[in-house]
Amino acid sequence: MKIAVFPGDGIGPEVTRQALRVLEALDLPGLTLFEGDVGGIAYRRHGHPLPAETLEMARAADAVLFGAVGDPACDGLERHLRPEQAILGLRAQLGLFANLRPATTFAGLETMSALRPEVAAAIDLLIVRELNGDVYFGDKGTRTLDDGQRQGWDMMAYAEGEVRRIAHIAFRAAQGRKGRLVSVDKANVLETSQLWRDVVNAVAADYPDVTLEHMYVDNAAMQLVREPGRFDVIVTGNLFGDILSDQASMCVGSIGLLASASLGERATDFGTFGLYEPIHGSAPDIAGQGRANPMATILSAAMMLRHSFGREADAARIESAVARALADGVRGGDLGGDAGTAAIGDAVLERL
Ligand code: NAI
Ligand code: MG
Repeated sequence: MKIAVFPGDGIGPEVTRQALRVLEALDLPGLTLFEGDVGGIAYRRHGHPLPAETLEMARAADAVLFGAVGDPACDGLERHLRPEQAILGLRAQLGLFANLRPATTFAGLETMSALRPEVAAAIDLLIVRELNGDVYFGDKGTRTLDDGQRQGWDMMAYAEGEVRRIAHIAFRAAQGRKGRLVSVDKANVLETSQLWRDVVNAVAADYPDVTLEHMYVDNAAMQLVREPGRFDVIVTGNLFGDILSDQASMCVGSIGLLASASLGERATDFGTFGLYEPIHGSAPDIAGQGRANPMATILSAAMMLRHSFGREADAARIESAVARALADGVRGGDLGGDAGTAAIGDAVLERL
């Protein structure tokens, strides 16, 4: 079990440390950890936010545990040298095309949601977002029109194979959950979405045990707020997924609780190679104060055990320890409490 650990900037190293304590407490067979630099710290040490040796370390590992990148001291740098390029570079270079973001309301935290508590209590969904295509990677540019105005453009495009591979991931995820999949697109307007819909329908034939529904993205945004409990798994493209996954995650409450996995096609001895990170950033406003909630990173480590190492029981053990700590009233600053980073790590370890 080779894990590359990239703590990064700000609270990244603080939250990653607690996730490592949890992993080490599990006595995993053959656990080997490598630590590499990413982000602002990598820029200062090596002159680049994603040094070649870091990328090599990721390639040699079965999984990457990522903290966060982002450093206000790097604000003046050219774009390709900014800390955030580290995570974008890893996703692109490692072919991590499937972003999984679970959003589940923890018992006792219903009142943290912006939604009514009884609506929030029903949230237990997973967003599967395509991460390597769409307008983010299509041809783009600016041009001058005949009347002299400048016009910016970005091409939205998906090839069948790109849709097929993310669809398979989503159907398989639905099989392991409640068996319901909603594919989100804008097929009433977009050619890309019509092709998306055709491919998803074709893939559905392989999964007769999963109920498939198509939904337009504008309606999906509304339903996520109106009745989020109706969703099990949502699959969508890069742009729609970016927006909907942030929306869904905030429906459950705190940013300090939400984990993510980014998976590629490379198989490991025990599962799929992936990168695991909390959805939050480097939080420079609280960095170095021992106040960050490490639960999102600890839960990301659980996702890593599940997807890259096939250790469902250990993953569930971690998730249950976090849920029980929350149910017992352990609250970080993000939840209006005063438990510090290490104290939250202790609380999870005690319940493991
Ligand atoms: P952020 O997520 O770092 O922080 C937003 C707010 O939430 C802050 O008030 C912060 O204190 C709080 N917060 C975040 N995580 C927390 C935790 N675990 N416990 C308690 N409170 C927490 O987002 P922001 O401020 O927009 O970005 C800061 C830097 O992080 C920027 O440089 C940004 O580019 C970068 N960033 C990096 C990401 C990544 O590494 N994947 C993702 C998002 C942002
Ligand atoms: Mg986003």
